[in-house]
Amino acid sequence: MALLELKNVNAGYGEFRVLFDVSAKVERGQIVAIVGPNGAGKTTTLRTIMGMTTLYSGDIVFNGRSITRMPTHKRVELGLSMVPEGRRVFRTLTVYENLVAGAITKRAWEKLEDTLEMVYNIFPKLKERRNQIAGTLSGGEAQMLAIARALMSRPDVLLLDEPSLGLAPKIVIQIFDVVKKLRDEAEKTILLVEQHVKHSLEIADYAYVLEQGRIVLEGEAQKLMKDERLKKAYLIF
Ligand SMILES: Nc1ncnc2c1ncn2[C@@H]1O[C@H](COP(=O)(O)OP(=O)(O)OP(=O)(O)O)[C@@H](O)[C@H]1O
Ligand SMILES: [Mg+2]
Repeated sequence: MALLELKNVNAGYGEFRVLFDVSAKVERGQIVAIVGPNGAGKTTTLRTIMGMTTLYSGDIVFNGRSITRMPTHKRVELGLSMVPEGRRVFRTLTVYENLVAGAITKRAWEKLEDTLEMVYNIFPKLKERRNQIAGTLSGGEAQMLAIARALMSRPDVLLLDEPSLGLAPKIVIQIFDVVKKLRDEAEKTILLVEQHVKHSLEIADYAYVLEQGRIVLEGEAQKLMKDERLKKAYLIF
């Protein structure tokens, strides 16, 4: 059974429908990528999983339970966490204070020291810079902090919205390395939205291509990389 599953989801904002019959599965321990052009509905898909859009029909199942009708904070409590686009951090707070602010679930708060240690292990640089004001971090460091803060709630599944957007090529590589490490060493399950299709497919286990709110192609990432339709559409290889 998939850890997270969307079943025939139709969703949008008020009257404005964005997602049409989206069905997708995320297996435990995998990196699943969603790729597609601007405006396809990638962010909306993540927001729908978190309960931040209007859901017209369909079902979302997490860990064997339907979460379709649950408020966002309950979904976070159950083990879902999202890193929104644009590496948002509390700019006037220190790195440490940002991390503590992310420990919003009961289990995270009870194990704050453990959780911090786990996060500092993945991001040793954040430990070094724990007293630095977040607004003075570089773009790459701020993105690492945004991911680290989402991890502070001790999620099973991390939803990442374009973590590499606007970063220098060298930093992009580092971000993808971290995402891989989260699966391989921190045992996280990841749903990754990215514009860097090639990098994403290289680290992903499975991928979906979303266009105009519909899934138009899906498959094992390694196989998709060789798919002629994908190569043509994204001119990536
Ligand atoms: N808060 C909102 N209210 C109304 N419409 C919205 C809202 N957010 C997004 N949309 C619309 O939903 C559609 C899908 O947007 P979404 O942000 O999900 O696309 P995306 O695939 O993430 O694109 P990008 O690659 O540019 O981030 C777009 O037509 C967009 O204008
Ligand atoms: Mg988006």
